[in-house]
Amino acid sequence: MTLQLKPFAGNEGGQSAEGVAGAAAPGAEASGIDIGRPLSPEQVKAIENAMDRYAVLVFRNQPLDQDQQIRLAQSFGPLDLGLRKVKGGPHRFKYAELADISNVTADGEVAARQHAKIVGNVANQLWHSDSSFQRPRAKYSMLSAVVVPPEGGETEFADLRSAYDALPPWRKRQVADLTAVHYALHSRFLLGDTNYTEEQRKAIPPARWPLVQTDPRSGRKSLYVGIHACEIDGMTIAEGRMLLMDLLEHATQRQFVYQHRWQPGDLVIWDNTATVHRGRYYDFSLRRELRRATTEEVGLSAEALAVAVDVGGAG
Ligand code: OGA
Ligand code: MN
Repeated sequence: MTLQLKPFAGNEGGQSAEGVAGAAAPGAEASGIDIGRPLSPEQVKAIENAMDRYAVLVFRNQPLDQDQQIRLAQSFGPLDLGLRKVKGGPHRFKYAELADISNVTADGEVAARQHAKIVGNVANQLWHSDSSFQRPRAKYSMLSAVVVPPEGGETEFADLRSAYDALPPWRKRQVADLTAVHYALHSRFLLGDTNYTEEQRKAIPPARWPLVQTDPRSGRKSLYVGIHACEIDGMTIAEGRMLLMDLLEHATQRQFVYQHRWQPGDLVIWDNTATVHRGRYYDFSLRRELRRATTEEVGLSAEALAVAVDVGGAG
């Protein structure tokens, strides 16, 4: 079977079960490939090419077990551990490389309101790019839905390439050579979650990324912003943060956004270098369970290669 694609962009009428998408939104429904089975090199290429174009792919009715999800993710590159480097601790999966995107504790109960899992859920409701606080950063995230609440809990994706293209010329000139510092705990601190040891604060030193990066495969530029970005090199913290907030607000306008309404068995793949995403509100007393595997970026943008890896004073 070969990959079939149905783009979402512009289906704001809300007729489709998948969700709604603005005129310049990412995303396509993908079918014709059984992603639970080992992929052929041709299938991997077809998915990568589709990702270059659409940045988000939705496979319906393809529930995966943990082994299948890990195997699928490994077809696209080395796997990322993300925030697990900071907190570690018990988890309920066979693989540390699977992130438990749920409001459920390691023993399978819905987490109490004070539980760290809930802060994690809230933090995911801020617009972000997975692991942008690391070098290498995350490339593809693959989220598989197991249990979803009856209402809310959608995931939204904004296209950072459309967002770059839509910047006025003066803004493109302003941001062309700027770099941002991304820090893993910045979003947690914003939410008042500050109870981390010195060691945990330093477990993932900040990473520096150019605001504008050209994808080496698609040739498209993206405006690489998100909630992990907390400073602009060469600017005061205040001016840098204001600029980052302005740019994120620009990038997440509705015309750039696809909203995904989850069904159990959905598998959504997104490109973290071309999009930002966020979860939407749901009632935390109801069960929501998704599982994520993530690959590391292998072929960095020329802009990123030209920037020093080291962030001064970051420990
Ligand atoms: C993620 C994430 C948002 C959501 O899995 O990386 O941010 O809707 N998820 O659960
Ligand atoms: Mn995420």
